Amino acid sequence: MRAALSGVLLALGLSVTAAAAQDAIDVRVDTSKPGATIDRHIFGQFAEHLGTQIYGGIWVGRHSKIPNVRGIRKDVVAALRALHVPDVRWPGGCYADQYHWRDGVGKTRNARVNGSWGNVLDSNDFGTDEYFDLLQQIGADAYVSVNVGSGTVEEAADWLEYMTAAQPTALAKQRATNGHPAPYKVAFLGLGNESWDCGGLMTPSEYTEKMRLFGRFVNNFNPGAPMQKIAVGPGTPDTAWTDAVMKTWKERHGWSFDINGMSLHSYTVLDGWPPHKPSTDFGEQDYAGVLGETLKMDGLIQSQSAVMDKYDPDKKIALAVDEWGVWLAPMPGSNPAFLQQQNSQRDAILAALNLNIFARHADRVRMSNIAQMVNVLQAMIMTDGPKMVLTPTYYIFKMYVPFQDAALLPVTYDAGSYTFENVTLPRLDVIAARTKDGGIAVSLTNIDPHKPAVLDIALPGVSAAAAHGQILSASAVDSVNSFAAPNTVSPRPVSARIEDGRLAITLPPASVAVLTLDR
Ligand code: AHR
Repeated sequence: MRAALSGVLLALGLSVTAAAAQDAIDVRVDTSKPGATIDRHIFGQFAEHLGTQIYGGIWVGRHSKIPNVRGIRKDVVAALRALHVPDVRWPGGCYADQYHWRDGVGKTRNARVNGSWGNVLDSNDFGTDEYFDLLQQIGADAYVSVNVGSGTVEEAADWLEYMTAAQPTALAKQRATNGHPAPYKVAFLGLGNESWDCGGLMTPSEYTEKMRLFGRFVNNFNPGAPMQKIAVGPGTPDTAWTDAVMKTWKERHGWSFDINGMSLHSYTVLDGWPPHKPSTDFGEQDYAGVLGETLKMDGLIQSQSAVMDKYDPDKKIALAVDEWGVWLAPMPGSNPAFLQQQNSQRDAILAALNLNIFARHADRVRMSNIAQMVNVLQAMIMTDGPKMVLTPTYYIFKMYVPFQDAALLPVTYDAGSYTFENVTLPRLDVIAARTKDGGIAVSLTNIDPHKPAVLDIALPGVSAAAAHGQILSASAVDSVNSFAAPNTVSPRPVSARIEDGRLAITLPPASVAVLTLDR
C-alpha cells in the first residue's frame, strides 16, 4: 500500500496540476442557492475525564515545568485556538453520570476513583472553574453534561445555580469566593449520557421520566446567556428511543420541561465490538472497510431524522451528534482503559467525510462533538509529558474553519467509485458553502488511494480569478504524526486559477483539499 501510493504521489510531486480535460470529473457548484447554515457547533469537541486527556493533556497544574496558564497547558491552548473550537463537551461521556460537581470546586478537592475509565484516581483538581478557564482561554462555549445516572435533580440544579446565578444566592456567593463573581455562560446542557448503556441501562420510558424532571428543574439563571438542553438520544439505528424522546417532547404542555436538541452517538468500528483494528500499519482492506463503515453515518442521520420529522416537522429540535469518530484498538503497551490510539491520514479523510455528512444535514444536525479532543480516541492533539503533536484530524478541523456558520451550497457531480475487494465507495466527496464573510469555500476529498482525481469545477456567476487553501495528503494512508516525526502529515498550501468561472484542480490519491475563492 505504502509503495503504491507513494509512487503515484511522487509522480504528482504532491502538487496540484492543471486538470487534464479528457478524464476530468465535472463538479458544479450552484452559487445562487445558499441553503441551511452549517452551524459552527458541528465542529465541537469532547473532553472527558478519561486517560490522559484532562490530567496531562490539558491540566498540568500551576507548578508544572510545562508552560501553563493557571495550570492549563499553553501549547494545547494555542493549538486549539487555531481551530476556533465552538464548544467543548465535559465532563463525559460515561464519566458524567458518576461526576459529582462539588468534588471539583473550592480550595479542598475530593479525590475520587474514576470508575468509568480504569479505576484511576481523579484528584478533581480540574473542576468547574478550571473548565471555564479552559473555555475562556480557547474561546469556546460550554457544553456541560449533568449526572442523571448516579446524581439527583437537586444536585444538577445546584450545579447550574453555582455556574449561572447572577443574584447573590448562596451558590453564587460560593462561586464568587472561588474567584468568579460573574456568572458563567452555559450554552448547552446535556441531560445525561448514553442512559441506555453506561448511563444506567434505562428503558426509553425510564429515561423520558428523567428527561422530564431534569428538563424541568435544572435551569440556567444567567439572563444574558441562553442555554439549550440536549436530551440523550440513540446510539444505534433502532428508532424506538428517538420515538420515545420526541413523543414525550411533543406531548409536553404548560410550564413543563422543554429540550432544544437530542443527541446521537455513532462510532466507526470495523468488524464488531470490541474495537480491535490497529491504528497504525494497516492495509487497504482496513482503509476501505473503515471508510465504508463511516459513510453509514448518513443513513443513520436520515433514519433518525425521519422519526424526528414526524413529531417536529419544523426542525425545532436539533440532532446533536455529540460523540463520533473512529474507535480503534488501544496502542500496544497503553492502558486499554485510556483509549489511546494513533491517528492517520485515513482518519483525517474519515473526519472530512463525516463533517461533509453533517453539513449536508445542516437543517437538522446543528451540533457535533468528535470523540475526543486530547489523547483519547480520534484526538486532535496527543501529548507525552512536555511533548505535543498535532494529528492529521487536527488539520482537517483547521482547514474546515471557513465552513463554520457558512451557508451550504448545492453541489452536483458524478463521484464515480473506488472498489477494494467487497467494498465499493464513492471516489469523490465534495461540499461547498457561502462563507460568513460572503466568500465561497469548497472541500474536495479524493477517497481513491491509488488514482489522482482530476476535477473541473464550474462556479457559475463567480468572478474570482483564483482560489487558495490547503491540501492534506500523505505518502501512505496509514501515515501518522509521532513525537519523533511530528510533521509526517501536515497540510500544504494550494492555489488554483479560475478561468471563465471554472476551477481546475488535481487531487492526489487519498487527500482532502479546502479552498476559498478570492473575493
Ligand atoms: O468516548 C468514550 C465513551 O464512549 C464515552 O464515555 C461514552 O459516552 C461512549 O460510550
